Amino acid sequence: MCYNVLDRHVKEGKLGEKVAYYWEGNSPDHHMTITYRQLLSHVCRCANVLKQMGVKRGDRVSIYLPMIPELIVTMLACARIGAVHSIVFAGFSSESLCERIMDAQSSVLVTAGKLLQHQTYTPWESERDVWWDEVMRDSPDECEPEWMDAEDPLFILYTSGSTGKPKGVVHTVAGYLLYTSLTFRYVFDHHPDDVYWCTADIGWITGHSYITYGPLANGATSVLFEGLPVHPHVGRFWEIIEKYKVTKFYTAPTAIRLLMKYGQEPLRKYDLSSLRILGTVGEPINPEAWRWYHEVVGQGRCPVVDTFWQTETHLTSNPDFIFQTFPFFGVEPAILNEHGEELEGVTEGYLVFRKPWPGIMRTIYKNQELFENTYFRKFPGFYVTGDGCRRDKDGYYWITGRIDDMLNVSGHLMSTAEVEAALMLHQSVSEAAVVSRPHKVKGECLYCFVTLKDSKEFNCKLVEDLKRLVREKIGPIATPDFIQNAPALPKTRSGKIMRRILRQIARNEKDLGDLSTLADPKVVEVLFNQRSELK
Ligand code: PRX
Repeated sequence: MCYNVLDRHVKEGKLGEKVAYYWEGNSPDHHMTITYRQLLSHVCRCANVLKQMGVKRGDRVSIYLPMIPELIVTMLACARIGAVHSIVFAGFSSESLCERIMDAQSSVLVTAGKLLQHQTYTPWESERDVWWDEVMRDSPDECEPEWMDAEDPLFILYTSGSTGKPKGVVHTVAGYLLYTSLTFRYVFDHHPDDVYWCTADIGWITGHSYITYGPLANGATSVLFEGLPVHPHVGRFWEIIEKYKVTKFYTAPTAIRLLMKYGQEPLRKYDLSSLRILGTVGEPINPEAWRWYHEVVGQGRCPVVDTFWQTETHLTSNPDFIFQTFPFFGVEPAILNEHGEELEGVTEGYLVFRKPWPGIMRTIYKNQELFENTYFRKFPGFYVTGDGCRRDKDGYYWITGRIDDMLNVSGHLMSTAEVEAALMLHQSVSEAAVVSRPHKVKGECLYCFVTLKDSKEFNCKLVEDLKRLVREKIGPIATPDFIQNAPALPKTRSGKIMRRILRQIARNEKDLGDLSTLADPKVVEVLFNQRSELK
């Protein structure tokens, strides 16, 4: 992998002096340019440091860094020596980081001190800890790559599991290289003089594939942005597009909805005429956001590519002026009804895939059984995405959203179970149920029902405590928007919580349909009444 994304360009392709990344810091005063040759040199140094620390082929290395060049250097250094990287999004809490380090049994953690300020103080141990700058300075900048087998693991990336415990998705070297490289080239119609910008964080799969591996495999020039779309002003994205003459821009519906709120004025100040193609990923894009993206950002002339895929997969999308998708080469979708029967023509149901392709995940780290149960048990013979889907008369696939116990908050997938588990850690809470509710900017937000232990009181302080608890356990992205007191939860006679009903209560939809399977239908009325007390 590392040879293909760096050495090949520097040694065979004469791209050594080509810019690999324009790094743009959180503050507009911080920026730097990194060429392919410089990147290769840093990667070799870092690879030698890791080797020096005893990291061998197959060992796991955890990375918990903000969007700085060191993040890319470390991931490629791992690839160079055959170590398996496990990147943890820097917005996750220390507990989430800990859980992922333990699961992967990583021997090294690469991190930045600034992040640790907010968290438990970790004392420096000179036997264990080293400063990046010091060890990199003395490290040689040549390192023979470890030659890997096509099916050796490249990285682990944790994604939410419906049981609440994160699953370590494993991708392998050759299939992942092929699919990131091909999808990047064809979906974004890559040309050598492009300046490509994917605004995702490398802590998510989109950043792995479309900031690091896909662009580098194609010898592309990318923007690597550390900051936020609204800092220090709401035109920051547009300013960066003008500054680097970005031609291909890839972002998420939640970012578009956020920026739409500020109207067209912030864009008018900048020249966006370099843009050729716009991409969207992470959640279904609503028509209003799509139109704004196409007409205001793309000035009506840039195709919008809607790329549907998952941490687990690499797949669909089609450059088109409309926001549905066709499957990518090698990907064969099908739509099933709940009995697992395949539906033909214009239809709606469960989105599944008929056969594997090189870019699909290989297993869940150390848990092949969970892998089989999660993706293949519901409909034997198919890979189950967990998403609903509609096929129209022209054969386009429209992703309608999750149909399991997952939520998509600002394009970040999380399971209701993990938030429930965090809430139930509070000593006043006896039971919790979490559902999604539509949100103007985030797409979906968390609506939590909590049942308290006898004699415990529901008040503002408790609500704040519970929000803090979830933030600490999972991270700020999981902060609940609503917490409602639920003296009881709607359950079936066998004791299963009926989430469909809770979702409707959260959305204030009064027409609840058939309630006959409920053990105690009166609970519903009580919950609707309590709802009106919400602030
Ligand atoms: O529900 C789908 C939604 O995000 C899920 C995958 O999330 P994750 O593994 O975090 O990867 C996100 C980035 C690839 C999917 O099961 N999703 C992702 N992209 C789209 C989408 N839903 C609709 N349209 C999309 N373009």
